[in-house]
Amino acid sequence: MSVSTAPAVLILLGPPGAGKGTQARMLEEKFGLVQLSTGDLLRAAVAAGTPAGLAAKTVMEAGGLVSDEIVLAILKDRMADPDTARGVILDGFPRTAGQAEALDKLLADAGGRVTAAISLEVDDAAMVGRVSGRYTCAGCGEGYHDEFKQPATAGTCDKCGGTAFKRRADDNAETVRARLEAYHAQTAPLIAHYRAMGVLETIDAMGTIEAIAEGLGAIVGRVSA
Ligand code: AP5
Repeated sequence: MSVSTAPAVLILLGPPGAGKGTQARMLEEKFGLVQLSTGDLLRAAVAAGTPAGLAAKTVMEAGGLVSDEIVLAILKDRMADPDTARGVILDGFPRTAGQAEALDKLLADAGGRVTAAISLEVDDAAMVGRVSGRYTCAGCGEGYHDEFKQPATAGTCDKCGGTAFKRRADDNAETVRARLEAYHAQTAPLIAHYRAMGVLETIDAMGTIEAIAEGLGAIVGRVSA
């Protein structure tokens, strides 16, 4: 039996609303991995007003993809943090062929490779509703949904007890449709890349959050054993 010592590198692929963030946070807790969301990293850069954030802001508001150059710089910085040695779940990265190639090279230079790329399979039609009903706790970032996931006590975050919530500027129907188009044009082709590498896994992500978490947990347990 061979025992791998390289940290797991798991990719969650899927259109906006597929549940990448929701599931990444659950996997993070269950497997002790670190969730790296390029969307979150970019939103932090926008909020901090860095040059990268200023360049990214308009693109994100229009539902397009931020340049590979900016995204790779932000991602590489975060991957250099010591906590990523526990293994990472990449949420929303890579999204273009250039990003996938850069990731393969980054990992190969460190003697590793992608452990698994898991494609969350969903119907586009349901995604607009999922995304436009979403909101998060302003204090701890816990995610909720008007219909599918509400706090146990209305108006109070289950996790931190906070009472302030926020919605993302790009979570309106028009921008979600632009994000879906960007996904199909630039990100969906990566499914073939990971299939050719022999690391592609797929999961039906139209069920309940809990059912999908169970299926994903089984995949992650198997590929990281
Ligand atoms: P990003 O933040 O990555 O957004 P996204 O990919 O559009 O994905 P979302 O966060 O909208 O959806 P999700 O799949 O995480 O779903 P969630 O779990 O929240 O990117 C934003 C922007 O940043 C991009 O448009 C781009 O401009 C830029 N960007 C980011 N990365 C980039 C990159 N690598 N390159 C270039 N540009 C980049 O779920 C959605 C809602 O549905 C939640 O309310 C949840 O509670 C609910 N839900 C989840 N699962 C279920 C379920 N099974 N049933 C019912 N409801 C569910």
